[in-house]
Amino acid sequence: MVEQATQQAESVVRGRARARDTTKAQLVVAANRLPVHHSPNNGSDDWRPSPGGLVSALTSVLQNRNGLWIGWPGTTEPENVPPSYEGIRLKALNITEDEYENFYLGFSNATLWPLYHDAIRAPTFHRHWWQAYSQVNMRYAQAVADNVALNGTVWIHDYQLQLVPRMLRELRPDVRIGFFLHIPFPPIELFMQLPWRRDILAGLLGADLIGFQVTQAASNFSRMARRQSSATGTDSLLDFEGRSIRVGAFPISVDSDQIVELAHDPAIRARSAEIRKDLGDPEVVLLGVDRLDYTKGIQQRIKAVSEMFQDGSLKPGKHVMVQVAVPSRETDAHYERERHNLEQAVSEMNGEHGQVGNPVIHYLHQNLPFAELVALYLAADVMIVTPFRDGMNLVAKEYVMCRSDLTGRLVLSEFAGAAAELRGAFMVNPHDLEGVKEAIRLAVNAGPKEARDRMSRMRRKTYRRDVYDWAESFLLALRQTAM
Ligand code: F6P
Repeated sequence: MVEQATQQAESVVRGRARARDTTKAQLVVAANRLPVHHSPNNGSDDWRPSPGGLVSALTSVLQNRNGLWIGWPGTTEPENVPPSYEGIRLKALNITEDEYENFYLGFSNATLWPLYHDAIRAPTFHRHWWQAYSQVNMRYAQAVADNVALNGTVWIHDYQLQLVPRMLRELRPDVRIGFFLHIPFPPIELFMQLPWRRDILAGLLGADLIGFQVTQAASNFSRMARRQSSATGTDSLLDFEGRSIRVGAFPISVDSDQIVELAHDPAIRARSAEIRKDLGDPEVVLLGVDRLDYTKGIQQRIKAVSEMFQDGSLKPGKHVMVQVAVPSRETDAHYERERHNLEQAVSEMNGEHGQVGNPVIHYLHQNLPFAELVALYLAADVMIVTPFRDGMNLVAKEYVMCRSDLTGRLVLSEFAGAAAELRGAFMVNPHDLEGVKEAIRLAVNAGPKEARDRMSRMRRKTYRRDVYDWAESFLLALRQTAM
């Protein structure tokens, strides 16, 4: 009895000390990457904010709560990560060369990534990759546990960290844990392939709230949890080991106001006009912007456009395509092959249909500044977004937010999460080449009224539901979970 009372008293004292300790954060975000990245071109210690609305939205919620962001600085070289960014504290989670190979390139991007994206490439299963994944996840859990305040809140992000919720719960049962998956969650038949499926499920079930991009992913997960773990309940509320876990869809979005503002910036509008001029003042500019990833369907899209030049439905000089392919995961063999094949397709298309001084496709393998992307969105009459599978696809939403003149047209894969909201798009099944060609033809030839109606529908849906709204609604749902 005495011993028990002493232990309780000690634990209360420890708890009070933790609560008073202002070095601990009320809200911790754990993600595979930090919100800043090292810019190697500029010599020593030049860190820049990573682009995208996610960083802005999470930064704004962290700023108000003595927040901390834990993540990988993106390099295996020990670097001097700045201690803070925009008033939020940063903690670098370094990984070794071996972990880069086995945790990042291996289990995260050659097992989970293809498995969760419809097995477009065959997922590879290696036990030593799994070990590295567990090891890095444990390091994250420990780092969070050491830095979160008593009864604090932790928001864990994405497929690289699916074991962290359970590991963290074991270390710190007092904290509220949210998890958000940015990519799709696969159907049962595919997930069942994973030798460690039960561990992943148990890992995620350590959270109080598990968020997905779309309802389908949430119900895939809940069905899987009921089948392969002791969880019971409905698609939106599970009971597991005596706890209630909320499961739901929280579609991520963009920073609408920032994009609208950029799209009205006179310098960016002038740049957009200059781009059209440089493209030879064509009647119609078609645009693709993707991370160079085999899930994005870039080659299929180029094949479709190329066949349209072949059959005369598109005409060199009158129609021109721009494809931006942002370099990604370049040390992975699948990505290397994808780049090679894509560049071959681009060169064949120009070789067959281009003219001197008049290529039919302009290809950029570059990471462009966001302002330049906005100028391209403004210059494009038809935006083509045709992934085979995509958690959300923010390019589609960025394009829609840029087009306040209501003239742009969006061709969108029905397998992108964004398709659930952007119903005004010309929808395609990216596996159906004839269907893709037909949708591009309809988009190119759509009259101004049809384009306006479709675009205003999509803008109405996207404007208010921006990335700030996404972050707030996730955190509100997390606060409302039972503890
Ligand atoms: O969409 C999932 C995601 O992990 C994003 O969070 C990230 O921006 C993108 O893929 C690129 O991934 P990586 O961090 O591997 O470069």
